[in-house]
Amino acid sequence: MDASAQTSSGQLLAWYDGHARVLPWRSPPGAPPPEPYRVWLSEVMLQQTTVAAVIPYFERFIARWPTVEALAAAEDSDVMAAWAGLGYYARARNLLACARAVAAMGGVFPRTEAELRQLPGLGAYTAAAVAAIAFGNRAVVVDANVERVVARLFAIAEPLPAGKAAIRAGAEAITPVERPGDFAQAMMDLGATICTSRSPRCLLCPLSEACLARRAGEADLYPVKPAKAARPHRKGHAWWIEREGAVWLVRRQGKGMLGGMRALPDDGWIAGRDGSGEPPLAGPWLAGGQVAHVFTHFSLELHLQLYSGKNWDSLAADDGEWWPLERMDEAGLPTLFAKAAQLVLAGKGDEVSE
Ligand code: ADE
Repeated sequence: MDASAQTSSGQLLAWYDGHARVLPWRSPPGAPPPEPYRVWLSEVMLQQTTVAAVIPYFERFIARWPTVEALAAAEDSDVMAAWAGLGYYARARNLLACARAVAAMGGVFPRTEAELRQLPGLGAYTAAAVAAIAFGNRAVVVDANVERVVARLFAIAEPLPAGKAAIRAGAEAITPVERPGDFAQAMMDLGATICTSRSPRCLLCPLSEACLARRAGEADLYPVKPAKAARPHRKGHAWWIEREGAVWLVRRQGKGMLGGMRALPDDGWIAGRDGSGEPPLAGPWLAGGQVAHVFTHFSLELHLQLYSGKNWDSLAADDGEWWPLERMDEAGLPTLFAKAAQLVLAGKGDEVSE
């Protein structure tokens, strides 16, 4: 590491010693690392999800499944339901697959980045984060916060995603051999609290003297983003079939979006068919209002249809289950369907036929 890189990492670690966020999966700066299970679980949850959203889920998971073996022994449906609301449900399926792989290895996580990468759901970022934070290995940990800090520090003008290679090289140059786990988390905290996307607080930044973007007065121009493609908008329908205080729920198939999660029956909008699927019963149906939800790759307008007939017996028992309305909270519905259920149960659906 050259002298200026060493200065940057030293300054950052000194800042972290005084400013580290206290988080339930962390050890204090300079202390021995937390258990690998806690580090891995938190890093999987934190992929594309904010710290504030993750904290209560992390605490519930640790209370219910305190070890990787306990998690490995859980029912799939319990874990999927406990994950409900965190989004990106492939993570929960991989989480279980990974817990079971580690349990099969005697409940001990492998220590190196290369071995960690072999586990289900551990990509480059998560393997590096676990290697650095849980095992003190020098690994280059680059998430969106780190990307922003490094792009500014070195004023990397190449737009993302092509700029990622230069950003990675910059992160590599400043990652120290000593305290790599603290260093990675210091970069994350700096990105989350000081080197923020909008209005970075450069006056408080431990790297401000070295930062090329700040020196040019242009911190907020980095990282340079490509022109944004508009998010497509989809429209779809979901069907609310109620009988004697229970609603008909299905379990979504496969590994696609929301796969493995409980849901209302829908018309296939998620597969991109834009509302062409058939309802599970012939009708009659009433309009039950609509909910909006934004996914990463599209936004959705979900129109609810309320069944007002009595021909329930033609629903095939293999396809779904009657779920009691008073236990709706325990169904583990992903946010989209939880919003839909709330709308119906609050009786706010407009009754205008479509
Ligand atoms: N985001 C991802 N991993 C994190 C961590 N360990 N601490 C804070 N924010 C994070």
